[in-house]
This record gives sequence, structure tokens and C-alpha cells, in this order.
Amino acid sequence: MPKNRLFTTSRDLRSALSLLQEKGLSIGFVPTMGALHAGHLSLIDRALSENDWVVISIFVNPTQFNNQEDLAQYPRTLDSDLLLIGSRNNCIIFHPEIAEVYPQNQFFVPIDLKGIDAVMEGKFRPGHFKGVVHVVHNFFQIIKANRAYFGQKDFQQLAIIRKMVAHFNFSTEIVSCETLRESSGLAMSSRNMRLNSSDIEAALIIYKTLLFVKENKLKMNPQSLKTSATDFFKSGDLQLEYLEIVDEKTLTNAEDWQSTNVCCIAAYCNKVRLIDNIVL
Ligand code: PAF
Repeated sequence: MPKNRLFTTSRDLRSALSLLQEKGLSIGFVPTMGALHAGHLSLIDRALSENDWVVISIFVNPTQFNNQEDLAQYPRTLDSDLLLIGSRNNCIIFHPEIAEVYPQNQFFVPIDLKGIDAVMEGKFRPGHFKGVVHVVHNFFQIIKANRAYFGQKDFQQLAIIRKMVAHFNFSTEIVSCETLRESSGLAMSSRNMRLNSSDIEAALIIYKTLLFVKENKLKMNPQSLKTSATDFFKSGDLQLEYLEIVDEKTLTNAEDWQSTNVCCIAAYCNKVRLIDNIVL
């Protein structure tokens, strides 16, 4: 019996998973857009340690890109992704075509995300979260996993997925996993593949600014710290899209310090859009 399996159709994947689930075996799910790096592998390894089998989707979801150039440039590295997964056991790779994920006759009503989709990423990438919610919803329906694993680097995505799960009453448990960083502090991301060494050096301003905010929490109010941190960021060479200090649940601007706030940054390093955050 092969140790890992690859499916390209929802129907075949569902039949295989039904057989496993009928035997009482647990399923973990790691959704990805491919271009796997150590951050993804840590999600996969955590999922493998907590479930009998792990489904890894590799699907560059067109509906979550508001910028066609970004979609076209998104790295696609299926062969090396399969090699990386190949050093593990009990992985089920799902690599579907668009029509498999979005069946023509599907009736899907976008859900009300109560404004948490309108700030930060949602403000600068209109329609992005609608696409994320739709694709993750469709995957959850096909896979019916016990647990699904998401990285905290996409902090806002995680908050939105939790709302989506509550809305549709999915029984899949959401497991959030810490952001993996290079030794320099740069958050791991598939988009880093598009950075050269001087870009990487310049991109470190993101993490340095997040640390600046963490070190200065409580020394001034959130609004003043946002201003100082923005000035600090601008001493570097990246183009800032937003720097926000928010409440971890509502994602609205923090008026006062709470036990948990989050600072989120999005910026362009040349044409590559990078995001990161730190829990304060
Ligand atoms: O975080 C991502 O890579 C994507 O947004 C996801 C969750 C795989 C949906 O396409």
C-alpha cells in the first residue's frame, strides 16, 4: 500500500476519506496554496502528530486574488512540494482543478463577517476574504476533517475562519500554529521565493518594527505607538501599506491596551507583498 496518496477529484478524495473515517481514523487538514516551505511542513508535522491521516490541499485559489499579476506571479512548485511531502507518511495530497473546488451548480451565500473582513487585508485586498471563506468552506465540506491547521502569520484569516466555522457549524476544530521565522526573524512565506538577498535584508524592517512595538507597549498609548512605529518602519526601504495595532478579536483599532493586542503590518518589498504580525 502506498504511504502517501494524491487525488485530483473531490469525488475520489471523498470516497477514500469515507473509508478511513468509517474505520474511526482521524483526519487532519492543512490547506495550502503550494510552494511549501518549513512553515507549512511544521503545520503538516503537527497535524500528523495529532491525526491518523493528513490531507494537504495544494491549490492556488483564484477567487482570493484581487490582483491578477499577483495571481500569475504566485509560485507554483508542485514537484518540489511533492518531494517535501514524500519524506512523510500518511499524507493525502489534494491537487484539484478549479472546477473540482467550485462546482458549477453550487449555491454559496457569502456570510456576514461583521466587519472583521473590512479592515487591514480586507481593506487593501477587496474580495480577498470572500474568496478565502468560499474555498475553505468547500474544502471543509469535502474533507470533513477532525482538525484543520492554520498559521498565525495570517492572523486576520484565522479570525475569519473561526467565524466561518461557527456560522456553518462545522465540527472541524481549528488549530492555530505559531509563525515560523528564518533565523533573521523574517516570517516564512511562499512569497519570500521572489525576494533576492538585498530584498530579504530590506524586508527585515517588518520584524524589527514588530519588535519595536512589543518593546514599547505600555510606554505610550496605542495611537502614539502606531505613529512612532510607522516612523520607525519608514527608516527602512519598504513601502508600507498598513501598520495597525488592534484588538485581537474585533480587529478594530486598539483605543487602550488590553491583555492581548496584535500589531499587523503589510508592506511591499519591490513588487512582493509581505504581511506579518506580533501578539503584544
Ligand atoms: O493561507 C493560505 O495559504 C490560503 O489563504 C488558504 C487558507 C490555503 C486558502 O486558499
